[in-house]
Amino acid sequence: MSFRILGTGKSVPSYVLTNDEMATIVDTSDEWIRTRTGIRERRVCTTESLSDLTTEASKLALEDAGVSPEELDLIICATFRGEYCSPAQSCIVQRNIGATCPAFDVNAACSGFIYSLDVAAGFFARKTVKKVLVVAADNVTNSVDWEDRSTCVLFGDGCGAAVLGEGDDLLSVNLKTKGDLDSLVIPHGENTFPKYELGSQRPTLRMNGREVYKFAVGAMSEGLEKAIRDAGVEQEDINFVIPHQANIRIIDAARHKLHIPEDRYVCNIDRYGNTSAASVPIALDEINRAGKLKNGDLIAMSAFGAGLTSASCVLRWNK
Ligand code: COA
Repeated sequence: MSFRILGTGKSVPSYVLTNDEMATIVDTSDEWIRTRTGIRERRVCTTESLSDLTTEASKLALEDAGVSPEELDLIICATFRGEYCSPAQSCIVQRNIGATCPAFDVNAACSGFIYSLDVAAGFFARKTVKKVLVVAADNVTNSVDWEDRSTCVLFGDGCGAAVLGEGDDLLSVNLKTKGDLDSLVIPHGENTFPKYELGSQRPTLRMNGREVYKFAVGAMSEGLEKAIRDAGVEQEDINFVIPHQANIRIIDAARHKLHIPEDRYVCNIDRYGNTSAASVPIALDEINRAGKLKNGDLIAMSAFGAGLTSASCVLRWNK
């Protein structure tokens, strides 16, 4: 027994930061960002808190699932940094939605949603839960250096959520970690409004873009290949691939190593940039709400991030 997905939700901040506005903050251009990453704009928390986003996405996922907060047996929040060191972000969600179940956070950076699905699957396998909320959110723009054009243009804020019930629809999952302190590091720092301030001295995200790029292409192509093989299906059988939305060139490079037609890849990077743990569940919610998913469809998901972590899985849609 693993689980089936009963409902999904998402929440993104209202402020749209376009590439043109980004070019007024750092020395960059819409053309550079679009051609090197596929990003046109991203959402940035200006008035919203991480708790606002996680609460709203969770409520929408519960509504979509037809599940009440009291029915939840567990809440897992995937985030690299909740609004407080403690309590965990999941505890704040529990309080805000009126649930009473246990709650804890999982930190696997951008891979956190898939890691959390696998953690949830363990609870279902032990038959200790019937309904689980997995909510994935990061306020990355609060951790970036707004004077570093090589990183700040890449990220956005957001949250995605899924409510899980009993079922057998997680067909395979593989998690990987390669402990690394050089390629991508997000130090502890202040976590206060305003969400981005020019000239602030707080510790910020540091990244070796080329190293992460190389890691990402291999992690995504090999991870998807293995997950699909382990699920006992063929690549051609996959109806939707939901890749982590970090860079369209990473998605394209991984795609070229696989045998899944391009139109099956779900991409919204142009509108949101890299929203870290929220990236995969936001895309899942968008195709769910657009009515694109049919029961029996096979969805392959793949993500990578700081850690370095990576995770891939295959799910059957059976809502
Ligand atoms: N605008 C304009 N120029 C920029 C720029 C920006 N926002 N950022 C970097 N540049 C410049 C660099 O300074 C460099 O100039 P130089 O040649 O004069 O030194 C040039 O563009 C090329 O830089 P480079 O780092 O080689 O670009 P790239 O094609 O490798 O793309 C990334 C950079 C970051 C987009 C790419 O490496 C990447 O996506 N890496 C993975 C990052 C990632 O996914 N991280 C999150 C993981 S969860």
